This record gives sequence, C-alpha cells and structure tokens, in this order.
Amino acid sequence: MSELKKYPPSAAWMANAHVKGPAAYQALVAEAEADHEAYWGRLARELLSWKKPFTKVLNDSEAPFFKWFEDGLLNVSYNCLDRNIEAGLGDKTAIIFEADDGSVNKVSYSQLLAKVAQLANALKKRGVKKGDRVVIYMPMSVEGVAAMQACARIGATHSVVFGGFSAQSLRDRVQDAGAVMVITADEQQRGGKSLPLKAIVDEALEGGNCPTLKDVIVYKRTGGNIAWVAGRDLWLHELTASESNVCEPEWVEAEHPLFLLYTSGSTGKPKGVQHSTGGYLLHAALTTKWTFDLKPDDVFWCTADIGWVTGHTYISYGPLALGGTEVVFEGIPTFPDAGRFWQMIQKHKVSIFYTAPTAIRSLIKAAESNEVVHPKNYDLTSLRLLGSVGEPINPAAWEWYYQHIGGGNCPIVDTFWQTETGGHMITPLPGVTTLVPGSCTLPFPGITAAIVDETGNDVPNGQGGILVVKKPWPSMIRTIYGDPERFKKSYYPSELKGYYLAGDGAIRDAETGYFTITGRIDDVLNVSGHRMGTMEIESALVSCTDLVAEAAVVGRPDDTTGEAICAFVVLKRPRPSGDEAKAIAKQLRDWVAKEIGPIAKPKDIRFGDNLPKTRSGKIMRRLLRSVAKGEAVTQDTSTLENPAILEQLGQAY
Ligand code: WT7
Repeated sequence: MSELKKYPPSAAWMANAHVKGPAAYQALVAEAEADHEAYWGRLARELLSWKKPFTKVLNDSEAPFFKWFEDGLLNVSYNCLDRNIEAGLGDKTAIIFEADDGSVNKVSYSQLLAKVAQLANALKKRGVKKGDRVVIYMPMSVEGVAAMQACARIGATHSVVFGGFSAQSLRDRVQDAGAVMVITADEQQRGGKSLPLKAIVDEALEGGNCPTLKDVIVYKRTGGNIAWVAGRDLWLHELTASESNVCEPEWVEAEHPLFLLYTSGSTGKPKGVQHSTGGYLLHAALTTKWTFDLKPDDVFWCTADIGWVTGHTYISYGPLALGGTEVVFEGIPTFPDAGRFWQMIQKHKVSIFYTAPTAIRSLIKAAESNEVVHPKNYDLTSLRLLGSVGEPINPAAWEWYYQHIGGGNCPIVDTFWQTETGGHMITPLPGVTTLVPGSCTLPFPGITAAIVDETGNDVPNGQGGILVVKKPWPSMIRTIYGDPERFKKSYYPSELKGYYLAGDGAIRDAETGYFTITGRIDDVLNVSGHRMGTMEIESALVSCTDLVAEAAVVGRPDDTTGEAICAFVVLKRPRPSGDEAKAIAKQLRDWVAKEIGPIAKPKDIRFGDNLPKTRSGKIMRRLLRSVAKGEAVTQDTSTLENPAILEQLGQAY
C-alpha cells in the first residue's frame, strides 16, 4: 500500500467538515470505545426527533437479536419531512427529479409531505395497518420515494423489489413477506424505451398464489397499455385525489421493522433482511452527515436505484432526514449518451456525487473511445466530494474519477457496507482521512470492524482474514424475515465469539491499519455491484428441466463489471458445439433472465459431458474458477473421472 499515492485532506476540508481532522475522529472513536452505549445514545438524541425518548440504549439480553432504543417512540417520515418543515425548510427543494427524457420536476419538502400524507391516508383507507408488509415495485420516481415514506408514516413495513427483477423473483418476495399490497407503475422509462412493470406484477400474481395480497396500486408513468384486474387494481392518482394532505404519523417503537430488503446469500433462496426504525434512521442520518458532509447548500446525488439498500439509505432516508436537496434520476448513464452523468452534474450543480465503480469503469471506456462524452466537455466545478460503493474500486479507476470528475480536488469516500449493515461501516471521512486509492480506509466511529481467523482470534495487520464487527451497532440487520435460525447461522456463527460475520475477506495495511476488502468468502458474487448467489443462479439453470441436467456457477474477474458470472452446464442431450451451442447458451441466458432477472444472466456458458467432481461427488469449484479465468489448471486432477472434460469446458459461449 505504501507504494500507492496518498491524498491527505486539505486544510479547508479539515477546517470546515462536520468531522474536523484526525483528532476529532480519534476523539469520537475514543468516546465510543469508552462507552459504546453512551456514544450511540448521545447521537440518537442529537440526530433524531423522538415522540417518546428512549431510556435504554441497548438490550443485548437475547443476543444476537439486539434491540436499540427499545422503549423510544418515533416516526421516520416525521423525521424526514415534518420536522424539516417545522424548522423552516418547507419551500426548500427536497428532490430534483430528472426523467429519462431529461425533463425536470422539483419537489419541495412541503410538496413531498403532502404527497406522502395523501398516499398514507389512502393506504390506511385500503386497510393497510401498522406491521403489514407492502411490496414496492416501482421505477426511480418521486412517487417511489413517497411510497416508501408513506409506508413509514403509517408503520407499514415496505419491501422494495428492484424493477429489473423477474415475475418469479417478485412472486417469491411477495409470498415470503406475506405482502398485503403491491405498489407499482404501468411501465418504466429507461434509455428511451418503455419497459413493463404492471405486466410483470400481473404475471407474478397469476393463479392466486399470493393469498395475502389484496390490492395493486398503479402509478401512471407512461400511460402505456396495461391489463386491469377489476377489484384488485387501483390507480394511484384516483386513490389519492380526494385524500387529505394531513396525516398524523403512527408513532412506532424504535425496533419496529421499517423495511425488508431481499438479498442473495450462499444458499438458493434470497433472504429478507429486516431493518429497524430508530437504529437504522440514526445511522442513515449520521453517515450522510459525517461521510458525505452534507450541508444545507449541497446538491447530493446518489445514482443507486431505490431497489437496492444504497437507494434506501442514501436516497429515501439519509439526505431527507438531514433536510438536504437531492437528485433522483429515472434513466441510465448511457442515454442519450455516456455523458449523461456529467451533463446532469453540470445542469443541477451537483456538489456530492455517489456512484459505483462499475459505472465509473464503463464511463471511462466510453470517454476514451468517444471525445464527445468525455467529462472534460462539462463544467463539473460544482463538485466538492465523490463517493464509491458496492465493490472494490481499482486504483486506476479511482485515479481517473479523482482527476477527471473531481478535478483533482474532491476527496473520494470509498464506502464499504452491506444490505445487512444499513449504512457505511468502513469509510474515509472527507475532513479526516488521508486517502489511499483502493482502500476503504478505517471504520466509521463506533463501528468495531476487525479482521480475525476462523476461530475469531485477531490476526495481525498485514495478514488477511475474515472481516467481522465485534460489537452490535444501531443500524444492523435485526433478523432474516421468518427465519431467525438462518439469521443466527449466517451472521453469528458460534465459532466467531459473538462477532458479526460480514462474509468478506479483508486485510489491514501493516503501516496504516487501513482496510482493503479482498472479496466475498462465501458463494456470493458481485457483478456490477449487484449481489448474486451462485446457488441461486444454479437453481434457476437446473429448473430448465427440458434442457439442463446439472449446472455449476462461479465468478471470474471482469474489467468492467468487477466479477462476471460463468456457468458450467451439463445438458440432457449431447454436448453441443458451434452454432448450436451458441443458440442453447442464448436460450439459457433468457431462461435465467426470466427466472431471476437480466442482471443474473451468465456472461460465459460452458458445456461439458459432465462436471469435474471429487471422489465423494463434490463439484471441484476451485478448479472451475481456474477454468473460468482461463488459467492453467494446477490442482490435482487425478481424481477426475473424465479428464477430457477440462478441454470441453475451456470453450465459452
Ligand atoms: C457486498 C455487499 C453497500 C451497498 C451496496 C452493496 C461488497 C460493498 C464495497 C466497497 C469493496 C464492497 C462487499 C459486501 N462491497 N461496498 N466499498 N469495497 N467491496 O450492498 O448488495 O449488500 O453487497 O458488496 O462484498 O459484502 P450488498
């Protein structure tokens, strides 16, 4: 790490940031170390408005089912909207919405509250009660954010499903959550095209296999043709038109579940990560304040979709809880051309920009092959801070981001966190941290991240190990919905001394103690910052029972997407080659897209007469990973039944 260039914070940053310089950071770390509960209790009182103050910070009597601020009452939507309006920000722009076609709609805090209250009243009238689950399957829109806030306002637990997921994935989530309602749109508009949403909801709910579901609320986005199920489907605009724009918030216990968000694990079935109200909102607000240094005049833009946790914490909740102004973008970075992000930063005078390494890498490629979309053509001087999230950022992409987007004077916060952690865990703070490209640097104050071996013992700096968090923190996952045993097994395995297991490997620099994430240690892939389980893709493939006898999925490195999905397939018919193999590969990709969603399509498909297995019948995944990478196979292959298959598997379609 010492050979990499270092970027210390400027004097101006150290003087003006919310957290001012290394000494301030050290003081916060020391405060948390001295009394973890007192530290988090102080911040929860300072950052959040409580209807009824809590008297106890942490209840660990049923660890690892930790409870934070248990006897306090609050409401997330009140904290994000009403209290900002009470503080005089009613006319301040909350959301600058830019549609796919470039049209812009600005929504003030008062307008957003009115929308949220009307929808909240309508939901109540439809019988949605505190604790009911509502699935949100919507495009990036003011209405999408408002739907989440409306659920929060009445104490309903939302579960947002990314608009790129298939009918099958949506059905699984509606069923697992036992949702009473789906809020969707007729269609979504992306890259100049209208794509279906309502039609996918119809397919998901076909045949009455979601018995808990009563209503489907439809936001009219494009006005495209859709089917209508009388008695089940309702237009959002009709439902809300006559509703009052006043709605008393439902004051809920701090532990009340704000949302479920399904994410991939190492087994086939995605898990419903359950988050709380108080602890979650605290960390959303606090990290937005300290990591992004959000100030009243900032224009904040997080490019994530609200279907992922990044969109939850840094679009729907964190920036609003602080009374910030943020951009919400419907479209894609390459439409009408790959200069879209830079053009939008210029147009809206964005000051804080948060995106994923995959996006940066693909825009570097675009800029290098087409002068017109190069960021140098745009005025990006409004920027003061950049962020990265979702996967490791390679030093070359970091440097390009720093020089070409940040103009060589914007710190980059490389934020490591997960769906389960609710907010940033290991990250630079812009007024504090000397940046090193490729490292997420040091834990956020109060987060006790550490690297241990398989038995939970600390490993020395400079030596890789398993990333854990030693003490609970307010925004941590509370459980896996409906499966507390799986929660314990996945995150608190008994051999790790009660530490939270992140599922990533990491190493700390011998000299600086900085963390570098080395990648997942389980069967989870990270493709373009999207999390995918290898088993999930395998089950999708083998569910194509007409064609597939057996399948194994591994990841391999990819220059743009970080990792790429590589599937090894044994067919129920003779191994194909040439055009036939290409055609079947396409058929299988389409199948996976239909089962899970287009993001899960394997990049490489390789056919074999069988798969390499050990004598006991276990698939030799390490060997498959070497084959996928195109590496020479160095493993012992003497146990292979049929060594010739290695050559067969060498060909990707
Ligand atoms: C996994 C979590 C965090 C919100 C988006 C993804 C990887 C995330 C970083 C980073 C290296 C990162 C980890 C983690 N990851 N951020 N800054 N550097 N790796 O959330 O879908 O729950 O995925 O993403 O592997 O475990 P997620």
